[in-house]
Amino acid sequence: MSSPSELIFFVNGRKVVVKNADPEEVLLSFLRRKAGLTGTKYGCGGGGCGACTVMVSRYDRHQEKVQHYTVNACLQPVVTLHGAAVVTVEGIGSTKTKLHPVQERIAKAHGSQCGFCTPGMVMSMYTLLRNKPQPSVEDIREALGGNLCRCTGYRPIIDGFKTFCGRETSGCCQNGGGGGETCCEENGEKSDICRELFQKDDFLPLDPSQDLIFPPELMLMERKLKGDALYFHGERVTLVFPFELSHLLELKAEHPAAPLVVGNTTIGPKMLLKGFHPPLVIYAGEVSELRAVAWGENGVTVGAACSLSSLQKEMQDAVEVLEEEKTRGYEALLQTLRCLAGKQIRNMATVGGNILSANPKYDLSSVLAALGCTLHVVSKDGMRSVSLDEKLFPAFGETSLRPDEVLLSIVIPFTKPWEIVAAYRQAQRRELSFSFVNAGMRATFREGTDTLESLSIIYGGVGSTLVKPKRTCQELVGRSWREDLLSDACSFLKEDVLVPLNIHGGRGEYRKTLCISFFFKFFMQVAVELKRKGVSDVDFPPEDLSALRTFRNDAPQGRQSFQLVSEAQPRSDPVGRPSMHQSALEQATGEAKYYDDLPSVQGELFIFMVTSSRAHAKILNIDASDALTMPGVVTFVSAEDVPGENRRLWFNNPEEFFAEEEVICVGQIIGAVVAGSREEAKRAAQRVRVSYQDLEPVFFTIQDAIKHESFFEPKRRVERGDVDAALKEAERVLEDEIYMGGQEHFYLETQGLIAVPRGERGEMDVFVATQHAAFTQELVALALGVDSNKISCHVKRLGGGFGGKVMKIASLSAVTAVAAHKTGRAVRCCLDRGDDMLITSGRHPFLGRYQVGFSSDGTILAADITYYSNGGCTLDESSFIMDKALLHMDNAYRIPNLRGRGIVCKTFLPSYTAFRGFGGPQGLMVIESILHEVAARCGLPAEKVRNINMYRDQLCYTHHKQPFDPTLMIRCWDECLHRAGYEERLRAVQAFNSSNRWKKRGIAAVPQKFGIGFSKGFYNQGAALVHIYKDGSVLVSHGGTEMGQGINTKAVQTASRVLGVPMSSIFIKETCTGNVPNAAPSAASFGTDAVCMAVKDACEKLMRRLRPLVDRKRGDSWKQWVCDAYFEKISLSATGFFMGPPTCVDWEKGEGQAYYYFSFGACCSEVEIDCLTGDHKNIRTDIVMDVGKSINPALDVGQVEGGFVQGVGLYTIEELHFSADGVLLTRGASQYKIPALCDVPAELNVHLLADAENPHAIYSSKGIGEPPVFFGSTVFFAIKAAIAAARRERGLTGGFPLRAPATAERIRMACEDQFTEMVRKDSDLKAKPWSIDV
Ligand SMILES: Cc1cc2nc3c(=O)[nH]c(=O)nc-3n(C[C@H](O)[C@H](O)[C@H](O)COP(=O)(O)OP(=O)(O)OC[C@H]3O[C@@H](n4cnc5c(N)ncnc54)[C@H](O)[C@@H]3O)c2cc1C
Ligand code: FES
Ligand code: FES
Repeated sequence: MSSPSELIFFVNGRKVVVKNADPEEVLLSFLRRKAGLTGTKYGCGGGGCGACTVMVSRYDRHQEKVQHYTVNACLQPVVTLHGAAVVTVEGIGSTKTKLHPVQERIAKAHGSQCGFCTPGMVMSMYTLLRNKPQPSVEDIREALGGNLCRCTGYRPIIDGFKTFCGRETSGCCQNGGGGGETCCEENGEKSDICRELFQKDDFLPLDPSQDLIFPPELMLMERKLKGDALYFHGERVTLVFPFELSHLLELKAEHPAAPLVVGNTTIGPKMLLKGFHPPLVIYAGEVSELRAVAWGENGVTVGAACSLSSLQKEMQDAVEVLEEEKTRGYEALLQTLRCLAGKQIRNMATVGGNILSANPKYDLSSVLAALGCTLHVVSKDGMRSVSLDEKLFPAFGETSLRPDEVLLSIVIPFTKPWEIVAAYRQAQRRELSFSFVNAGMRATFREGTDTLESLSIIYGGVGSTLVKPKRTCQELVGRSWREDLLSDACSFLKEDVLVPLNIHGGRGEYRKTLCISFFFKFFMQVAVELKRKGVSDVDFPPEDLSALRTFRNDAPQGRQSFQLVSEAQPRSDPVGRPSMHQSALEQATGEAKYYDDLPSVQGELFIFMVTSSRAHAKILNIDASDALTMPGVVTFVSAEDVPGENRRLWFNNPEEFFAEEEVICVGQIIGAVVAGSREEAKRAAQRVRVSYQDLEPVFFTIQDAIKHESFFEPKRRVERGDVDAALKEAERVLEDEIYMGGQEHFYLETQGLIAVPRGERGEMDVFVATQHAAFTQELVALALGVDSNKISCHVKRLGGGFGGKVMKIASLSAVTAVAAHKTGRAVRCCLDRGDDMLITSGRHPFLGRYQVGFSSDGTILAADITYYSNGGCTLDESSFIMDKALLHMDNAYRIPNLRGRGIVCKTFLPSYTAFRGFGGPQGLMVIESILHEVAARCGLPAEKVRNINMYRDQLCYTHHKQPFDPTLMIRCWDECLHRAGYEERLRAVQAFNSSNRWKKRGIAAVPQKFGIGFSKGFYNQGAALVHIYKDGSVLVSHGGTEMGQGINTKAVQTASRVLGVPMSSIFIKETCTGNVPNAAPSAASFGTDAVCMAVKDACEKLMRRLRPLVDRKRGDSWKQWVCDAYFEKISLSATGFFMGPPTCVDWEKGEGQAYYYFSFGACCSEVEIDCLTGDHKNIRTDIVMDVGKSINPALDVGQVEGGFVQGVGLYTIEELHFSADGVLLTRGASQYKIPALCDVPAELNVHLLADAENPHAIYSSKGIGEPPVFFGSTVFFAIKAAIAAARRERGLTGGFPLRAPATAERIRMACEDQFTEMVRKDSDLKAKPWSIDV
């Protein structure tokens, strides 16, 4: 084979020449590890999160223009960039030179919290502006559809970027802004309520001259790109890069088995994640014939290598200029393309690749087949035409093309006058999600009649390949398009579409129901069209037409309001003002450093975990001999290498770092391979052979744990009143249960660390993304058998934590530290997304079984609830999480007789752990379900029942006898309902429901009381260390960790107020166990409370020392005072400490002061569901939140919005699947869906309650991190109300079960109708399910 070619491309305006470029290397690793550009992030490695977004520019020699488009660097093979220019976040602006306006605006609009998604967001927006300097909001929405953010809830990002759409009004008039005329008006009156969180006046203007120009050298090069192919040889794979079609065909003839790659979005994930390594790959992206588009009389011929974005553009242009009749098929195709993946993938993925991947989950083939497309296929033997139909796809991943054939182009015909077409898809999430089922349908009629001449229906997602329901398509031909055709079609479809019971991805019943429901929609669409043409008299009542409406994805918008600080407060005092996150600009420019951005230490190694593949088994043997012979491998570590203890005790419950004799879940760490690079470590880890002897019992679900009586201790119980007696006396009693699935943290930054041995007396530095530095230090010391004083943990920032980086990261650090100790070299651990999801687990699934006694007016007399959580295989924090669920079980309600029992089930799943809300969202969910059900049984609006049961007295006691005043809670509730216009909208919802049969709306509101602080009192402490340097600058250290919540910003605001110096003179470098020891975790919404109190204490100490000097030298500056203090030998360093309240619960008595204080709030959401598909749209949400006197309203609103959206995920779309053998099946962004932009309510209003005080916490503020998650449940309850409306219409008036999350599948199947009934009768319930509810 030919000698290696030089790879030439540009990165940020600099020419890069690589001599022996590896075809397996993707751009992301090149940028991060070779070019030192760490601004581009790894979030998932599979194209599913957008954290790695960069802009690629290429000169198109045919169009003679430069094309700019975004790509996911994690899937882009670096060698395919030959001749391209790459721009990363570092290439567009920096804090050192000049910011790009995109970077400035996302930062100043508070669109960056942890910042890990921010560079990707910036690059998506930047690329949009390169192509369209004044975009529409819809353009922005489309551009960001492929970027996930786990922190912000997206609204602030959109708000920041919307400022590019045109001139906007400026910031708040009272807060320094120039022209926000109406920002401080309530009901038309001037007030101290402000609606502007940032000012737009001083934004940098968009200046195209700031942009890097496309390198002229590349234009010349592109013009010359023909002739000889390029060859890139790697260790395992060679990639050939031909420029001529003839050469491509020769190569294909010579190497028929070699995959042809263009976008690499199918082959890439296979190579990166599934161990597929073909020896030869042919890259066809530069063969111009494959990219050509030609319009003809009958339609368009699109080159197979055209990207989906260019197809979308062609279709869009055609729809705009051609007659509607001709372009119906294009409109249908567009509908699919708009929801297909995200912008970056559509830019990379090609039409040919989508079809020839032969994956029925992919959307194009079903639509194109229904449209009657033809493929032009070429080989050395010539060209032939092939119909794109189900026969092209004999099996999954296979086509009937010969291996030496190349797809040249696809002919997509115009629709004919009597042809009606449609495309459908339904997925877990409306965008950036593979469809469960997709379909293309085409009906042709005899001219001037409603007589069917031909019918083509193609389904994807209901089998291993495309499915054409033959009988349905054949037997209806010749008939009139009337009701009787519909019922026959449904019966035929039922027989024709046989969804295999073990179908990959499960949901067999639902998928089959979707097939019939899609056809029903098509039937109606066609009938309406025929009627319009005057050839049909099929009449539908107007309410039935709602079946035809599709949901639009909107960019979220809304109002945020907060109370201004008093006018008497000095302007220099930042407390209470909406300051930008301290490192937002660094995050937006890619300068902010996360643990994996730190440069490698000399001799650094990489570790890759070897985990158990069995759920419960004895380890018979671990054989690493093969792995140790692999290139680059240095060692294998396991339990026997641990110099100290191999287990940690957590409140007397042991957990091993490395499994020693037995494994108790799939995913448990058994050992780890240490090698020179991450790829080498990964490859070798796959070669470690572990032999097991399976053990009994093995079970995974709560139900099975109950059967086996497998529980962790302690079991908890709390009771108020006499529940048994009250239940006996109650007018009505309801017994039911509610199940809630778990949740994956999906912080965008996966877990990891760098352990650096210092070579002296066991010292080790650990640079780690942890929420609990002290615990990590403790476990590393324990594993290494050294004192904690030898271990320093450094935490700069986390790319999101949400409770997932408290416990598990400490064990991971211990494992990595053992490897560093053994090798004497620095060891880096950075979990792949899949391993992160497998090993570190997430939020506990909960089952709440209850009996509730109530009277017909909705008054609840008694409730008896037993909570079961699935704790997994070790206790971790499960019992504390259960405590929190129990302590929150009363929520806002004074239920006089209330009993809760909490039982943590021990199963053979990875151990569940803390997650934002810490049991609160589950505990609250059960009680709110009870309220919802009671209302339904009484035929009352749920809000009325909530109202009459609410705590109302000024002094109330929780069920655990903690006194509190519910005044602020009632205010939040009343204000929320008022601001939401609840009563009026409830009536509007009812009116909507009575005039729409297939779409239903629901509206629901919940109040909330949430305990702040740790119920384990010893955790309620905070410490800080403040140094003032001679130049007047201040360095603050504290024990909290910055993970996006803005703890550092609030700490700086606090220090600024006390010291009277500007925030710009105060710096927080990192959290380090060497500076502040024994700190509590940043958790329980208490981090900021504790830390700011400690910072305040330290600063006050310093001010007390400085006060005499300041009084003496009043006219001097801060700098001068500090300097003088130094010469007067006044110590300029102080520690601060906050001893929080002695919270505790006496579980024997079931009572105690569990929390420091309560945060209150209320939320109201409205949704619309599609009863035929289960899709739903979040229409509007209003939140009123009591945060006391906010220290920083921008950060607090950010926490509310971000928490709420995370809750929307928890209660509606995020679903983890386990196989019947306990294997986690959802291990990546492609399988697990967190909310994307399309899931945020179109209108999201957040109001921070005014005139709220909190005597307990720093500057009268309140903790806010956790409470808003529960507000996501309003969407669940609104969905449930909408389903109930649909069911009522079909005569189903009783209660019905709905598990959380309320996924599309659950919504559809709960909206029972003739179609679900048809399918259910057919189902084989005995079949082994694809996944189990654990
Ligand atoms: C995160 C993510 C989300 C996605 N979401 C969706 C979605 O919602 N809906 C959907 O439909 N798809 C989705 N996809 C799939 C995506 O659309 C396809 O992967 C893409 O269209 C394949 O095109 P490609 O050029 O990248 O293929 P490549 O990976 O380059 O190649 C794929 C296959 O096609 C063959 N091939 C390609 N071109 C030719 C040709 N001209 N002649 C012969 N063989 C050829 C190759 O040999 C190879 O086997 C998603 C992918 C990702 C990564
Ligand atoms: S890391 Fe590339 S898309 Fe997630
Ligand atoms: S700010 Fe978006 S993921 Fe954290």
